[in-house]
Amino acid sequence: MNNFEFKNPTKIIFGKNTIIKISTEIPKDAKVLVLYGGGSIKTNGVYEQVISALSGYNFKEFGGIPANPEYSVLLKALDIIKKENINYLLAVGGGSVIDATKFLASAALYKGEEPWDILKNNIRTETAMPFGTVLTLPATGSEMNSGAVITREETGEKLGMGGPGLFPQFSILDPEAIKSIPPRQIQNGIIDAFTHVMEQYMTYPIQAKLQDRFAESIMQTLIEIAPVISKDTSNYEAACDFMWCCTMALNGLIQKGVPTDWAIHAMGHELTAMYGIDHARTLAIIAPRHYRYKLENKKEKLAQYGERVWGLTVGSTEEKAEQAIAKTEAFFNELGVATKLSQYTESYQGTAEKVAAALEARGWIALGERKDITPSDVKKIIEMSY
Ligand code: NZQ
Ligand code: ZN
Repeated sequence: MNNFEFKNPTKIIFGKNTIIKISTEIPKDAKVLVLYGGGSIKTNGVYEQVISALSGYNFKEFGGIPANPEYSVLLKALDIIKKENINYLLAVGGGSVIDATKFLASAALYKGEEPWDILKNNIRTETAMPFGTVLTLPATGSEMNSGAVITREETGEKLGMGGPGLFPQFSILDPEAIKSIPPRQIQNGIIDAFTHVMEQYMTYPIQAKLQDRFAESIMQTLIEIAPVISKDTSNYEAACDFMWCCTMALNGLIQKGVPTDWAIHAMGHELTAMYGIDHARTLAIIAPRHYRYKLENKKEKLAQYGERVWGLTVGSTEEKAEQAIAKTEAFFNELGVATKLSQYTESYQGTAEKVAAALEARGWIALGERKDITPSDVKKIIEMSY
């Protein structure tokens, strides 16, 4: 195992009827801005619970944050934060609302002229305005990590940011909030979390047995609950496992002491920026091709994953690795998610060149756990994904 340091300061409050606990976490004298998305919280009872918890607080609201949070929309929220002297943010939503809130928490204290520079110039956020979250969509793990991804339509960019200042102070995880999630977003959540684990696991063996088994247990649990929660979002026990898997998949724990890849996400973000394809679906398109392309480098971990997660017993390391990739793609397809780019857009020709050029322009010319994925490899992987 590699050396590591691990600190995750986010307090998790998990379970039924816990949204009311906002009032024990946010200081009573705070001036709060409540941030939310396109309105799902207004129809599933979450909004009422948040407002009731905030009774007695001085607060304002900002709704309408779109999926793939858009920079120009966030600048309007930043204006309100400044004009109203807001000093505490509360995100109520999925990854997009939470990421938006992280951006705002950073931008609110940013001294530079153009807040986009935080993303463009990769400026780490050491301190930010304090914020908490109420998670309504298990998927990204944003509720317990210090990363965010923001989109800027004007320039066709989707960029990440992060830093120790961006951990939520608290996150409320009430699995009952997922009852209203439509099938498409449940599928997205399962695939996003599953791919988060794969990105931190499907590298090369490093004798980190506990990390491997943490990762495998999250994937096994997701596979087990996927058909249950897809069929019935009001199954509370399955909702609990689903929500906790998604959080554990990307809260920093399983990546400690081990190599990580993240090339699938790097390529996937470009497909979202180009075609607006849901984040998780871009991962479902690229992951099987990426693993096939890097089979030689990744075959030991792919075979171990095949054996331990999918119960494969027959074949050589290479054969098990191949079967494991096929199992993964079949899992995504059985959930109802298409895994070819041409199933999402008719104008896919030329995408490989465009993605390779976009990553190269950003200086991302050595992706993956071995830093050996060049723009020409990216081009081939995306071509295989057509
Ligand atoms: O906007 P509303 O009306 O709330 O509807 C949302 C949205 O349309 C809806 N929704 C959320 N909770 C619901 C619900 N509908 C019914 N009932 C509920 N309880 O779901 C839709 C999608 O929401 P969104 O927040 O966009 O989804 P997700 O959580 O998948 O977040 C995706 C964003 O997170 C980024 C992605 O790139 C993308 O921008 N990611 C963030 C990461 C992080 N911060 O660590 C890591 C990930 O890899 C990812 O990149
Ligand atoms: Zn993701």
